Amino acid sequence: MLEVENLSKTFRSGLAGRPCRAVDGVSLTVGPGQTYGLMGESGCGKSTLGRLITRLLPADGGKVRFDGVDLLTIRGRALKPYRRRMQILFQHPDTALNPRMTVLDSLREPFLIHPLAERGERDDIIREHIKHYGIQPELLERRASQVSGGQIQRVALARIMLLRPEFIVLDEPTSMLDVSVQAQIMELLGAVQAETGVSYLLISHDLDLLRRASGYMGIMHRGKLIEQGAAEALFEDPRQPYTQKLIRSFDRMKEL
Ligand SMILES: Nc1ncnc2c1ncn2[C@@H]1O[C@H](COP(=O)(O)OP(=O)(O)OP(=O)(O)O)[C@@H](O)[C@H]1O
Ligand SMILES: [Mg+2]
Repeated sequence: MLEVENLSKTFRSGLAGRPCRAVDGVSLTVGPGQTYGLMGESGCGKSTLGRLITRLLPADGGKVRFDGVDLLTIRGRALKPYRRRMQILFQHPDTALNPRMTVLDSLREPFLIHPLAERGERDDIIREHIKHYGIQPELLERRASQVSGGQIQRVALARIMLLRPEFIVLDEPTSMLDVSVQAQIMELLGAVQAETGVSYLLISHDLDLLRRASGYMGIMHRGKLIEQGAAEALFEDPRQPYTQKLIRSFDRMKEL
């Protein structure tokens, strides 16, 4: 359903700045209802890849096919439905929502961009919707700045899901949260997927989390996807020396 082919992006920063090949010929496929886990060290290009796929950033080359349509060749109004169908959930709870707005106003925002329901029905839809995300009704009146990080991620996810997307980039969705809250958010993401059939590209530094959540996995290194495969196979029998080193160092860290 999502097919990425040979996707590339080079940043040229500064006058004398050397070109940085942030994403270098990446190809991957994410099927309906699947989670593809993307692992790699800081700066290897994971977030850039997520932004290229969702068209938040223009690519230099390659293809992003969504339901057979190459998104990189369409623009303007033709792109709007895809802006709804593909979403991105960011790492930082503090940037996900406007801190001065109430949670209710944040949840109303998707309807302003995509007219998915009549104006008079919207708040009822929101009140019903949040029950499935563990959000208490009292939270709706609070400002985002007065809400905990874990609750913000719940609201950010609920807001995205109001748009009924088919694919979401989860860019380190739990890395700013306490371990216990992390587990709750991962559980919620799993339940939402089981319920709706949405696909995820799950970006994380945490191999354990990726192993539990992903069917398929890819290892990124300096802009390239150096190894990919079924998550279990990749852990049991990594082919690339870099992947072997990564798994070994992660196992050692757990023993500390
Ligand atoms: N807008 C930009 N302009 C110039 N260089 C950029 C830009 N965005 C990212 N880069 C560079 O591209 C490379 C990949 O960055 P990216 O944010 O995709 O990495 P990442 O894998 O998400 O890292 P992290 O794990 O720290 O989030 C880095 O070298 C970064 O400095
Ligand atoms: Mg990143």
